[in-house]
Amino acid sequence: MEPLRSLILAAAGNDTIRRLVATAPGARSVVARFVAGETVDDALAAVTALAADGRRATLDHLGENAGDPASAESAVSAYLRLLEALRVKALTDHAEVSVKLSALGLRADEGAALDRAARICAAAHEGGTTVTIDMEEHDTVEATLRVVRELRRTWPSVGAVLQSYLRRTEADAAELAVDGSRVRLCKGAYAAPSTVAFATAGEVDLSYVRCANILLAGGGYPMFATHDPRLIEVLGERVRWYGCREGTYEYQLLFGVRPDEQRRLAAEGETVRVYVPFGEQWYGYLMRRLAERPANTAFFLRALASR
Ligand code: FDA
Repeated sequence: MEPLRSLILAAAGNDTIRRLVATAPGARSVVARFVAGETVDDALAAVTALAADGRRATLDHLGENAGDPASAESAVSAYLRLLEALRVKALTDHAEVSVKLSALGLRADEGAALDRAARICAAAHEGGTTVTIDMEEHDTVEATLRVVRELRRTWPSVGAVLQSYLRRTEADAAELAVDGSRVRLCKGAYAAPSTVAFATAGEVDLSYVRCANILLAGGGYPMFATHDPRLIEVLGERVRWYGCREGTYEYQLLFGVRPDEQRRLAAEGETVRVYVPFGEQWYGYLMRRLAERPANTAFFLRALASR
């Protein structure tokens, strides 16, 4: 992994740096580029704006690594409030939710995290929408896939996420490429040692294409999460090669990243879903976005210094 990226990802786990950044006066303006706002109303406004030009959303209530049951329960309540608001505003055709199991206490108690995720899935199902379970650090992949398998016994539409930077992912893709299986494929945003992850960008990209082929050849619903122009071009070619019709797969991009490309794909008739984070706990999310692109870090440091 490149040194700057590992440095930023290490800072993401450092409490002193977190406090420093979170209270810096210039931080908010940078956060606003990647985060839709702090409240459910902010999230709904983002969904409505995206829907205006044919983009869908997956909403992430920010928060991760809940250290105690009370924080995990408060994350569940936030999702239940969000799902209720989507239902009341008739936005469930336009938006689903993305959930991090670490915010539901996965590391402390897998069974309790499963129960909490099940309550969110039940509410989503009642409201007529779906849930995708985000993938986090490499040492939680096994437990996360176990929880997804368990949830799918009741709600088969629950989405899984695979990260092409992990060496194991091709095998996971083969297992998940079955009828009705919704799978988001991304490169992977966390620090991971070379024993489990590919070290170079080229290897990660090749793995992405191999996994995309496996998913497209299977009977599932692939969700291609990337902003990489070269990969998007290759995916378009692969989709045509497999004869997949629009609506049997989708592209996903992050809120605030390459919005023109999001609109271009949607205007071409592709299904485009934008990952919309909202809430107060934006620090870990922001640091991963900075790690992805050194130019963002320079922009961020300038903004901090200018206030
Ligand atoms: P890459 O990082 O190579 O970027 C390609 C180009 O895209 C860049 O040159 C730049 O132009 C643009 N770009 C990319 N990131 C940018 C940024 N932050 N700011 C500005 N421009 C940027 N990860 C994970 O581990 N678990 C998960 O559950 C998810 N979920 C998820 C959902 C969705 C919808 C997306 C789009 C991504 C994720 N990710 C994720 C993050 C993913 O793993 C990855 O870190 C980012 O998407 C960046 O990788 P790219 O594929 O975009 O390529």
